[in-house]
Amino acid sequence: CRERGGGEGEGLSAERRRTPMPPTAAPHRHLLDVAGLSWSDLKLLLGTTEAARRILGSPTGRVDALKGVNVTTLFYEASTRTRISFENAAKALGTNVNSVAVASSSVGKGESLVDTVKTLRALGSNVIVLRHERAGAPWLAARVFDGSVLNAGDGWHAHPTQALLDLSVLLRNIGAKDGTLKGRRVAIIGDLLHSRVVRSNLHTLRAAGAEVRLAGPAELTRGFAEAAERSGGVTLCASLAEALEGADAVMALRIQRERLDGGEVSSFEAYREAWGLTEERIAAHAARGCVVLHPGPMNEGVEIDPDVADGPRSLILEQVAEGIPVRMAALWRTLRGDAPLNAPAPAKANS
Ligand code: CP
Repeated sequence: CRERGGGEGEGLSAERRRTPMPPTAAPHRHLLDVAGLSWSDLKLLLGTTEAARRILGSPTGRVDALKGVNVTTLFYEASTRTRISFENAAKALGTNVNSVAVASSSVGKGESLVDTVKTLRALGSNVIVLRHERAGAPWLAARVFDGSVLNAGDGWHAHPTQALLDLSVLLRNIGAKDGTLKGRRVAIIGDLLHSRVVRSNLHTLRAAGAEVRLAGPAELTRGFAEAAERSGGVTLCASLAEALEGADAVMALRIQRERLDGGEVSSFEAYREAWGLTEERIAAHAARGCVVLHPGPMNEGVEIDPDVADGPRSLILEQVAEGIPVRMAALWRTLRGDAPLNAPAPAKANS
């Protein structure tokens, strides 16, 4: 049950410190995963992303649409793109934003996730954007939090807003006329095993109608042959060349050095030799206008060559920038449901 209203000047009672929740009509109060989202949910989010882009392009670059909402970013793992773009997105919608520096917070004294979430609620947070090394952590947070939880990446499991921004960038660059990815082939290469990005992308890309080809070293693709068989439209390929054949887009995944437990990769030189994205390999196998994505951060010279990452096919910085409007849309949808996000009217030209 959500608290509503609450005026100024109530004093610093416990109730006042528990900042009232803003009214909401959201059918999806949290954004924990994309797997529960239908194509029409995804289209709604993409439409809101367009409205968010208009706000960002307006003279002020912001609105007060979520004024009074307190957003807290709580990241137990390192991040540049996701955390900063969530914070910029929240500010562009007029919210107050706080960031917990986990390393210097009471987490370091052993405070549990549940107690941290309850503490943040008591301090007035309405929205928690959570990244955690444990799969499922955002679901646990959502059980004890009466506001909204947005998953900013949990373990190897899910990274919903990354998949949404990848989808948005792909639709803009290689989308079919009907606003889908039907007839488009997307290759995803590399460390699938540790990748929350690929697990979320599989859902959104299939929902958009893309054919997906996966490839990577056998030690880093365990379980994906079965997943491919189950989902239809997804193939686990034996080689990079096979996965690239006719691809309209290719996404290289980061070798997650921090999650390797030894033995999966004999050497980074050997990895590049077999699985590295080079211009020669893309030109030899992929469709002519094939575009290149990477969720970042990159190990340049390992999973992707610098001249590909910085070359004309690369959409990597477009992905980074897309994080802001997409995360504005995610915040808006969790807090306001189907309500339209209105951009300010364009300034009238002087006559
Ligand atoms: N893609 C991604 O999640 O990047 P960060 O770790 O920098 O947030």
